[in-house]
Order: sequence, then structure tokens, then C-alpha cells
Amino acid sequence: MLSWEKIDAIPGWFTFHSYCVWRALLDHQVGIGGDMFEIGVWKGRSASVLASYRKPDEKIYLCDLRLDLPAVERAIRSVDLEPTNLVPLSGPSSDLPSKLDFQAMHDSVRWCHIDGEHTGTVVYRELEIANRIVNTDGIVVIDDFFSPRYPANTTEVIRYLEKNPFHFRLLAVGFNKGYLCRPESLPRYMDYMASGMSQALEKYGAVCTIFKTTGPWDTDAVGITKYVPDAGNIAGPDDEPQTWHMMRTRPVWGPLRHLRNGWRILTGR
Ligand SMILES: C[S@@+](CC[C@H](N)C(=O)[O-])C[C@H]1O[C@@H](n2cnc3c(N)ncnc32)[C@H](O)[C@@H]1O
Repeated sequence: MLSWEKIDAIPGWFTFHSYCVWRALLDHQVGIGGDMFEIGVWKGRSASVLASYRKPDEKIYLCDLRLDLPAVERAIRSVDLEPTNLVPLSGPSSDLPSKLDFQAMHDSVRWCHIDGEHTGTVVYRELEIANRIVNTDGIVVIDDFFSPRYPANTTEVIRYLEKNPFHFRLLAVGFNKGYLCRPESLPRYMDYMASGMSQALEKYGAVCTIFKTTGPWDTDAVGITKYVPDAGNIAGPDDEPQTWHMMRTRPVWGPLRHLRNGWRILTGR
């Protein structure tokens, strides 16, 4: 069974708090189908978490400059799973377009972790790949987001988002990673941030504060930090910490409109 102790025994960089954030989000994806995709695997530390959430018919694509498949298989076995349905892709991520059929993979991926070269040029191209394969409910995780060690890794993700506002939106930033989702899924994931996320994080041992310091008119992302006692588990803008500004659906039904829409659906017009 998956536990932090088992993941921590696998060499790599994936941290305890990211482990908790991933579990909270992957638990939330329980009803969602799709493959897993990772660029930058090393010895399979983060990949072993993905393997634990893979449903029987789902694949895990593993891309690394020099993929150490035996080490990754050992890592997955260490979390008591058989390393099946792996798609090993040894070589730089820039080779992926010549190895994979992105047309066939359209909308097929629900989790994409980008943790490879960390340069601006490469992360931008990796986001282009993610856009071709990630489904509507999918999440893209960018490692070392806002890390001072790799400035271009962040600036080029932002550039990508600015140039392609309908591909992905920034959902969350926390513990050295940025989380993107499809624009149409942002309200649903944001509802989860406001309702179940804190408890889910605590269930895995991470007591955190989730900040949402602005609203849907802005870059509507949350920030997840270690627990800040003054702020509590969940906090809004600095001058209004008790409020989260949310994007919500508002029903605008009237009997005539209802009838007209029913007629439109029936007649296909
Ligand atoms: C920080 S490590 C990944 C850590 C891993 N996700 C973990 O759980 O600890 C970065 C990995 O990216 C790989 N890498 C670097 N440049 C790459 C590229 N252009 N394409 C694919 N993989 C790359 C490296 O070989 C290295 O194994």
C-alpha cells in the first residue's frame, strides 16, 4: 500500500508536501479516466505515486533522457504494485513527437508531470505536447515553478499561458510546483480547493494553509503553504481573509425558456 515512508525510501526529489498535494488531487480524480505522463522520472519516486493511482486500463508514459527502467520497476514494486502498463520513453522530451502518435493520444491523459530539463525553451515545448494529450479534467504539474534556480522555467510557463489562454489556467502553486488545469475545469477544481482539499491534505499528514488572495477577474490561482496559524486552513485576500471570491453558475430558467430549449433539443435546431 502507498505510504510516504515507502516513497521516501526511493531516491529522488519529490517532497512530502507534494506527495500530500498529489494524493489530495488524485483522490479527487477518482471518477475521471485517463493515462499518466511524466517527463523527468529519475528513479521513479513521483512515478510510483502515479502507479498507485493508475486504474487497470490506464498507462503510465515515462520519459527521461536516460530512463532507468529497472530502477523505476523496483520503485513501483516497493509500493506493492506490479510495474505494468508502463510506456518507457528513453531520450529527450524533444524526441517525443517522433515517438508518439499525439493524434491518437488526443484527450487521453489526466495527469502530466513536467520535471525534466527545466529550461524555458524545453518547458514551453513540453506544454505544447501536454496541450495535445491532456483531457478536459486533466492536471499538468510543473516542477520548480517559481524556483530561483530556474527562472526561465517559470517565465516560459507564464508566456505559454498568456499566449494560449484557452489551453490551461494556473490552478495552484505550492511546495515548488505549479498546477495547471483546463479553463473549463477551473471552477470545479476551485470548489474542491475551497471545500475538500484542506481535509484531504490533513488526512495524509500535511497541515497547510490554502490562500486565495484574489478572484476570477485575476489570475485565479490558490497558493498552498505550510500552516500559517494567523491565517488558519483557508484564507482569502489580506484585507478580507474570511472571503473566497468564486466563479459560480447561476440558474436563469424561466418556463418559456425551458420549453423553447426542450423544443430546440427535440428538433435539433
Ligand atoms: C529532478 S529529476 C526528476 C525527479 C523525479 N520526478 C523524482 O520523483 O524525484 C529530472 C530528470 O529529468 C531528466 N531530464 C533532463 N532533461 C531532460 C529532457 N530534455 N527530456 C527528458 N528528461 C530530461 C533527467 O535525466 C532527470 O532524471
